[in-house]
Amino acid sequence: MVRKVGQGMSNFLKVALFSLFIIGIYTLYSVKIIPPITPEAPPKEEASTEPVTVEELIALGEQVYNGKGACALCHSPVAGRAPLLENAAVIAEDRIKDKNYKGKAASAEEYLYESLAEPSAYVVPGFGLAGTSDTVSPMPAVQASAIGLSETEIKAVVAYLQHLSGVEVTVKPEGDGAAGGVKNK
Ligand code: HEC
Repeated sequence: MVRKVGQGMSNFLKVALFSLFIIGIYTLYSVKIIPPITPEAPPKEEASTEPVTVEELIALGEQVYNGKGACALCHSPVAGRAPLLENAAVIAEDRIKDKNYKGKAASAEEYLYESLAEPSAYVVPGFGLAGTSDTVSPMPAVQASAIGLSETEIKAVVAYLQHLSGVEVTVKPEGDGAAGGVKNK
């Protein structure tokens, strides 16, 4: 009896050791042969938000206009602190011909871009900073101030304003549109 049990134990040990040996071989094999799995880098946030089509550009513009851009804070019938913009892309044609216009824009798109990046290039009569007789705009430059819009966001807002006015959207989602041109002049 005792002997049988002893034999059973040694058989068990043999099997156990054999199993460990096999497991060991496979472990070595897998560590050596199978390349370690490196986790894939998470996709860049920008890739999904970077507008590709004009529709996406307009959508981004609307989002920025009502959110990060804080445009509606001033440009709303309730606030009354700034001119309404629902016709801004059409009025732009007249603005650049105005004798008080000091900017460099040659098109409505460029005027809109400039209005955001350099608000004092033209001050809508009656809306200038108090005491400056409409030579200084109370509007902050959107790229520099706390608003801090990126180039893409500014272009998107310009596209949205053109869309809002019902004119053709001339801003291109990628590359140097006329809007980008103003800045590089
Ligand atoms: C602090 C208030 C304020 C904020 C915020 C503001 N604006 Fe203005 N904006 C004004 C005022 C006041 C004027 C009129 C004076 C002038 O011509 O600069 C103006 C003028 C403009 C004009 C020219 C309008 C025209 O008829 O020529 C455009 C375009 C414009 N803003 C767009 C924007 C956009 C887009 C945003 C958001 C990214 C924005 N503004 C944020 C106050 C503001």
